[in-house]
Amino acid sequence: MATNTQEIHFQQQELKGKDFLTLADYTKDEIEYLIDLADYLKKQQKDRVIFEPLKGKTLGMIFEKSSTRTRVSFETGIYQLGGLGIFLSSKDIQIGRGESIADTAKVLSGYLDGIMIRTFAQEDVEELAKHASIPVINGLTDLYHPCQALADLQTIKEVKGKLQGEKLVYIGDGNNMTHSLMIGASLTGMHMVAVTPDGYTPNKEVLTKAKSIADQHGAIIEWTTDVETAVQGADVLYTDVWASMGQEEEQQQREKDFENYQVNERLLEKAKTDAIFMHCLPAHRGEEVTTGVIDGKQSVVFQQAENRLHAQKALMTALMTD
Ligand code: CP
Ligand code: NVA
Repeated sequence: MATNTQEIHFQQQELKGKDFLTLADYTKDEIEYLIDLADYLKKQQKDRVIFEPLKGKTLGMIFEKSSTRTRVSFETGIYQLGGLGIFLSSKDIQIGRGESIADTAKVLSGYLDGIMIRTFAQEDVEELAKHASIPVINGLTDLYHPCQALADLQTIKEVKGKLQGEKLVYIGDGNNMTHSLMIGASLTGMHMVAVTPDGYTPNKEVLTKAKSIADQHGAIIEWTTDVETAVQGADVLYTDVWASMGQEEEQQQREKDFENYQVNERLLEKAKTDAIFMHCLPAHRGEEVTTGVIDGKQSVVFQQAENRLHAQKALMTALMTD
């Protein structure tokens, strides 16, 4: 059975043609719309309803870093929406041999209907978006991972029934994941505490931005080094790898610096009894999280990973439908 967007009964937002570089460029209503649309598309897929608003459309997917979830969920997602995904490894395209981002953006805009890019510098994604005439989606930079955070918000709402007032405690490195979660939590009225060792704090500008967004939405965004206090009353415990892609040579030093920041059974017991455990994956069992926690009954990591597909289908539908 075919369907169309008219069946979507919740409040539409005009997002056509917009880039998705950071959640901070979106309003609370727009984020809530994307989460509702993701839930709707998830249900459609489970009911085997065919929904192809992107028939004939093509998404180019530039990867300068490795990926399992982002690549497969975008490629499968655009296919399910009727379109085509083209995997573009930076090793194979001319950008890897020095062709400028601006020229690449202009050329690809002549062929494609959207670009997803995973790279190092946030400025490179911004440069691509500046010169592209089609939507650019940030599939992870050193600063942000907004696609993951969108799926995470969908997952928390799915499990907890709401986002407003939920306490999310992120433990570990103040990294791209921390930053996107801080922005997402501030927009949706959550209480987020980022717990990191000294020297691995979140980016100060992002923290300031998240706090100022939080003030408008009744959210609370905090940073501390004190794990034990932070986890009291937590609804969600979240962690990520201690050494992100590009930081592999710091692995040994980081293992020492983060040894008191592991999410383990003892820590999970201090959170609310119905607290959930989240991780963007890939995980290093025995480092940032114990096997008992990530494979335990409070873990929602695979639901979270699946929601990447639904959240990104919502994003592509909103940004790329005519
Ligand atoms: N969480 C996430 O982005 O996973 P990949 O690196 O496998 O894409
Ligand atoms: N912080 C991690 C996230 C991986 C999805 C990294 O950047 O490697």
